Amino acid sequence: MITDPRTPYPWINFLGCEEFFSILTNTAGGYSFYKDARLRRITRYRYNNVPVDDGGKYFYIHENGTVWSPGWKPVRRELDRYECRHGMGYSVITGELDQLEAEVLYMVPLGVHAEVQRVRLTNKSDRRRSFSLFSFVEWCLWDALDDASNFQRNFSTGQVEIAGSTIYHKTEYRERRDHYAFYTVNQEVAGYDSDREAFLGMYNGFDAPDAVMECRSRNSHAHGWSPIASHHLRIELDPGEEKSVVFLLGYVEVPAGEKFTARQVINKAPAEQLIKRFEDLGQVEAAFGELGGFWDGLLSVFQVEHPEKELMRSVNSWNQYQCMVTFNFSRSASFFESGIGRGMGFRDSNQDLIGFVHQVPERARERIIDIASTQFEDGGAYHQYQPLTKKGNDAVGSNFNDDPLWLILSTDEYIRETGDWGILDEQVPFDNDESNKASLFKHLGRSFQHVVNNLGPHGLPLIGRADWNDCLNLNCFSETPGESFQTTENREGGVAESVFIAGMFVLYGEVYVDICRRIGENRKAVEAAAHIAAMREVIDKHGWDGEWFVRAYDHFGEKVGSNECEEGKIFIESQGFCIMAGIGINDGRARKALDSVKERLDCEFGIVLNNPAFTRYIVKYGEISSYPEGYKENAGIFCHNNPWIMIAETLLGNGEAAWEYFRKICPPYLEEISDLHKTEPYVYAQMIAGKDAHKPGEAKNSWLTGTAAWNFYTISQFILGIRPHYDGLLIHPVIPASWKGYKVTRKFRGATYLIEVSNPDGVSSGVKEILLNGSRLQANLVPVCDPGSTNTVEVILGK
Ligand code: BGC
Ligand code: NOJ
Repeated sequence: MITDPRTPYPWINFLGCEEFFSILTNTAGGYSFYKDARLRRITRYRYNNVPVDDGGKYFYIHENGTVWSPGWKPVRRELDRYECRHGMGYSVITGELDQLEAEVLYMVPLGVHAEVQRVRLTNKSDRRRSFSLFSFVEWCLWDALDDASNFQRNFSTGQVEIAGSTIYHKTEYRERRDHYAFYTVNQEVAGYDSDREAFLGMYNGFDAPDAVMECRSRNSHAHGWSPIASHHLRIELDPGEEKSVVFLLGYVEVPAGEKFTARQVINKAPAEQLIKRFEDLGQVEAAFGELGGFWDGLLSVFQVEHPEKELMRSVNSWNQYQCMVTFNFSRSASFFESGIGRGMGFRDSNQDLIGFVHQVPERARERIIDIASTQFEDGGAYHQYQPLTKKGNDAVGSNFNDDPLWLILSTDEYIRETGDWGILDEQVPFDNDESNKASLFKHLGRSFQHVVNNLGPHGLPLIGRADWNDCLNLNCFSETPGESFQTTENREGGVAESVFIAGMFVLYGEVYVDICRRIGENRKAVEAAAHIAAMREVIDKHGWDGEWFVRAYDHFGEKVGSNECEEGKIFIESQGFCIMAGIGINDGRARKALDSVKERLDCEFGIVLNNPAFTRYIVKYGEISSYPEGYKENAGIFCHNNPWIMIAETLLGNGEAAWEYFRKICPPYLEEISDLHKTEPYVYAQMIAGKDAHKPGEAKNSWLTGTAAWNFYTISQFILGIRPHYDGLLIHPVIPASWKGYKVTRKFRGATYLIEVSNPDGVSSGVKEILLNGSRLQANLVPVCDPGSTNTVEVILGK
């Protein structure tokens, strides 16, 4: 709940979890789109605007010359009370002035291509009130990039139609489009506008539209320029009376042969059907209830009860919610992703999956197949694919040599969650070519083999264009301003190698071996195990620097991330992944590396990516050194890989350190420092400025980041220690010794487990005893129980 509209940055929410989506700020800014934020943008939004966040789903109230907005913006008239509540798939923004309250519920109901806005007006005074309510949205001409650039054409194409209280946006419908949008209200209107300049006046902003200030709609029809939709309602309220009106912003597709009912008259039947579904308040109430039930269901799969309310707030709702949002949007549309840049990342989507597979396993299954379908025959991958076509996006290139291995992670986590080994038999195309398919299991084999087939001079994996760190561009050698660091490879046949991929290869390679064994592919298992053993030796020989793991070898065979380097002596990624792969755990190197992380990378706000930060551009390293010190990949706190260090600490049984790192970047714990942190204190940001930055602790790029999935994965599976396993739930908490205990409700393969962990001896890890429904288990694996059953699991930690 936000009670001051002047947040340090717009604090947003995402509405919709299927095909129709909206982004909404706490002051009602934002936009809507269907499936693809670039290609099917429904309402317009200007990124990079001044003032920031201008334009959105606005309402205006005009009462006797006083004009205000329930969300404070755009009018910015001081309110007696303001409140914004962001919830799971909905937001409620309420303003009150002079005892008139206006509460707007925004939501995208399930199974519907529309945003519902319910405006509830309450007269809290003892006099009769009579006032006007104006609505406002601005249409986008569908392709958001074209809309923001091709003015010579677009100023002449805009078209609308108006029927009753519904304003239809039908630009380009006359030619090849078979979709239109509409904005309607379930009341008769006193007037309307559909032409922006007629509504605003040529030289006004959204804060003072002529039509609103003069309380008189122009009844304008847009022809070209900028089509909008605004309704004018006259409202009368007795003392104490409350009245609600329902607005609907919808999108419909019409079969090609049925587009028109007469020349120039669009077929409105599909819109009318949709409108009928939200005509009365009961229908809206029911849809809202259904949405709540849907989210309760999703979140009920994992719920923790713990003395720390911040932990509960994050784990039980917002972290899981953010995982779902990253699943839906990948890195496409937020307040830092303009919706016109990126599609679905191969590595990103595989990682996002580990954060939500427990919530919607069927959708995870579909996603795995979609991703694998873009894989090349040699195991390599397009770096990205487009959500609308599900095809690989050539423009963003390939040869990011970590990409293929992430498919093993996602598939494995899916099988652990569901026990659905059948997914491995699914026939999946290469590069979306239906005539060239192989089983998903074979795809995983290709992923593994891709590393084996691409080894460098030290026997380490070749890095290609980059590995997880998109900015470590060791073959790029770019001297040309503006050239893409990710898709340019000026040194052909590059020999640069990645120790990070080596660790990853051992970690997920072993997962692959396990899978092979379990499905009886023993020969493959033995072969793969030999490659892994060889890689371990190479890491021992060339991947250890003395106090930590080396990061990479550059084009000239020189170490990157070594004490020998002048800057960038140590990097976080190879520490995380080598230790997660178990390397150095038995011989003290892992502890040493983690101590180096603590000493050199950790700071008040989290663990930075590298140290010392690069203070100049180093052509052989690429984009990493292009960022000023402390930002992004150059020594920013890249929250995404902090959990790797948390997991590494848990593998050494160090619950205090894991928890301390967790707490440092966990959003609810940062609420206190919101003025510094700036972004929403309920979701993770991709990056927090590091210790070398101008303003350490200031976050950017909130919402769409792999941080969401990795943190949920870490807290649920490695700290609270409830890890899905092929044959049940593995229980292995690693926590601060001072924790007395906690409870987790976990739904798993149709059964419910009520898990109670107690820590009478004050240990950090070590399970002394587990009782399943009162009977003692021999190992810390809780077997799969009957579907529909509810089971108690008592876990007693101790020495
Ligand atoms: C960013 C990376 C991102 C890459 C690819 C870079 O500018 O720093 O975080 O992965 O662009 O979009
Ligand atoms: C963000 C990208 O989406 C992700 O794929 C990459 O791993 C990180 N940046 C680090 O560069």
